[in-house]
Order: sequence, then C-alpha cells, then structure tokens
Amino acid sequence: MVDTKTQYHKIKTAVDAAVIEVLESSVFIGGKVVATFAENLAKYHQSKYCIPCANGTDALQIAMMALGLQPGDEVITPSFTYIATVEVAALLHIKPVFIEVDAKTFCIDPAAIEKAITPKTKAIIPVHLYGQAANMEAIMQIAEAHHLFVIEDNAQGIGNDFIFSDGSTKKTGSIGHIGCTSFYPSKNLGAYGDGGAMFTNDDDLAIKLRMIASHGQSKQYYHDVVGCNSRLDAVQAAILDIKLKHLDAYIAARVKAANIYDNGFANNKKITTPFRDTNNKHVFHQYTLLLEGVNRNELKQFLADKGIPAMIYYPIAAHQQKMFDAFGGNSYQLPITDWLTERVISLPIHTELDEEQQQFIIANVLEFVNQ
Ligand SMILES: Cc1ncc(COP(=O)(O)O)c(C=O)c1O
Repeated sequence: MVDTKTQYHKIKTAVDAAVIEVLESSVFIGGKVVATFAENLAKYHQSKYCIPCANGTDALQIAMMALGLQPGDEVITPSFTYIATVEVAALLHIKPVFIEVDAKTFCIDPAAIEKAITPKTKAIIPVHLYGQAANMEAIMQIAEAHHLFVIEDNAQGIGNDFIFSDGSTKKTGSIGHIGCTSFYPSKNLGAYGDGGAMFTNDDDLAIKLRMIASHGQSKQYYHDVVGCNSRLDAVQAAILDIKLKHLDAYIAARVKAANIYDNGFANNKKITTPFRDTNNKHVFHQYTLLLEGVNRNELKQFLADKGIPAMIYYPIAAHQQKMFDAFGGNSYQLPITDWLTERVISLPIHTELDEEQQQFIIANVLEFVNQ
C-alpha cells in the first residue's frame, strides 16, 4: 500500500547523516534533536505546543488523561474509525458513545453529536478519516454550546487545512483543545518506527500533557499525577525532522495520485470515488472507493493475484467489536457505518506511485468491476 523504501532512498543522504549524528551524540532519549523537531512541527502545525510521545494511541490516551476525564464519563466518537481512537477510552473506563459518520465524508456527523450528548458527556473525538477533515466548525460550535472538550484524532490528517466559512484556515489537529497524531511508518508523516505527538494552544494543558507522558513528573523524581512512559526517541525525531520538510510535497504527490484515480474511475456506476468536501483540502492518507454491486473480497483477491495490494479500512466498525460488548456496543443502530464497512476498499496511495502503476491498478479494478 505504501513504498517507504523508494521514499527513503530519495532522502537517504540526509537521513543517514542525521541518524549517525544521533548515534555519535549518544543522546537517544530526549535532548536537542527531539526538542528541535517538536518546535519545527509546532510551527508547521500552527500550534503553540507540540508534545511528542511514543505513538498515536498513547497521544489519545494522554489527551484524555490531561483533560481529567474520569471513569464513567462519556466521549462521543465515530464508530467508523481505527480501533485506537476508542480503545483508549475504554482502557480508562470512559464510555465511548458511538455515533454515525456522514455518508459522503466518512467523518463524524455533527448532527448526530447533539443527539448523543448526555449529562455525562465530557468530550467529542472527531477523526479526520483517510485524510479528509471532519467538520470542525460545526463541531467546535456544538462543543462550546455544551462545554465539551474536543480531541482531534489527526493520525490520518496531518498537514490538512480546515477552511472556516469566513475563509480563514487552520491546520487540522490545531482546532480542538488537543490534537493527536501518529508517525506510524505508513502515515503521511511517517517515522521509521513508532511515534506520535499531541498539540495544544493551552499553556496548562501543555504542562499536563508533558507531565503525564513522563511518569506524571513535574521535575525529576517528583511525580505529581499518575502518568505513563511515552517518549519519541531521538533517532525517530531526527528522521521526522527531515521528512517534515517534505511533508507538503508528500501531500501534493498523494493528491496528484488521487486525481489520477478519480479520472480513471469517473462515471462508473458501481464506483464512488472519494468525496472532497470544500471545507478542507483532503490529504489522502487513504484513497478509498465505495463499491455498489461488486463482490469486494473477490476484487481484493483478483487484485492480489495481479500483485496489487488493496485493504479494507475497516471491515468491522468499533461498535461491532467484541471488546465493546461490555459497553453495549452491539445495541447501537448505525446503518451508515455498517453500510460503509461492507462497501469500502482502499487502493495503494503514496508518494512514489507513478502514472504507469496507477493505470495498471485502474485497468485491473475496472476489468473486475465491469465484468
Ligand atoms: C485514526 C487513527 N487513530 C489512531 C491511530 C493510532 O496510531 P499509532 O498506530 O501510532 O498508535 C491510528 C494509526 O494507526 C489511526 O489511523
């Protein structure tokens, strides 16, 4: 689905030198390299603070802890997401309240949020799924009206710009109280291992996030709150700092690839290409088709036989997962979510795709779909 090897070879000289520099310094944890990357990323991200951590899942967990969410509190989240978004709530004994996504954007439906608010609701967790932004303007208005926190799951959306109705823009992940992202290798800004980060513009929250990610430490060996151990290591920070300089070009390459796919699949009645909401630029972490009247699993196998990978993100929605039985997961009625889980299929999209590869993929998808 991605070609991180070719991408690495294009920046190999800089990456190798940066890694060797970390090895020679022997400062593997924390230090200047991590601090510099966090500063550079905060600037890019239009956020006052960037607090790196070990992965995107930890980022979400630490965000919930820093906001003081307690067992029994409720958070409103889409069910059509990667499990990490909601798993960490359950881990903290916070109840995930699953709601519908918009049938076009696949992101949390603001109209469904208001209906799900109860006296126990503390936060909304929009997910910028596949790189398309959730409607942050509507979500922030609802959050303000009901005094709720907003944690943006921006693991798939880093680099996207949300466009408000007055024409102003903000980076996704910088709009809610806390934004969380992942540097998993296949992400738009991917490390060569695990990594993640949290973003906020709030001074107090920044202190809490930093403290919780470091064993609840306010200063060395003074542990004020229960925290965890979640660090981005210096080797990953050095690599990410180089890749950050290329992030906009990486996004442009993904958008270009999406345009080629869109043209290739245009006007096919069985295929719906990704909707592009005008309120954001879509950074195409995934290129996901919606199929009607096509045996998706047979298509996936047909493509695999031609050497073309395809993935189903996600075949089972969170509310249908066994792990949420205890939270009444199977009592939810989410027809749009269920409908999507049965029809989506993601094609390879990354910075190194060339047009010839894409035409081969398009031709094979169409051969199967049109048979
Ligand atoms: C939407 C979403 N949230 C959270 C995560 C968790 O990130 P990580 O794998 O770095 O823990 C991911 C990435 O896998 C994701 O796609």
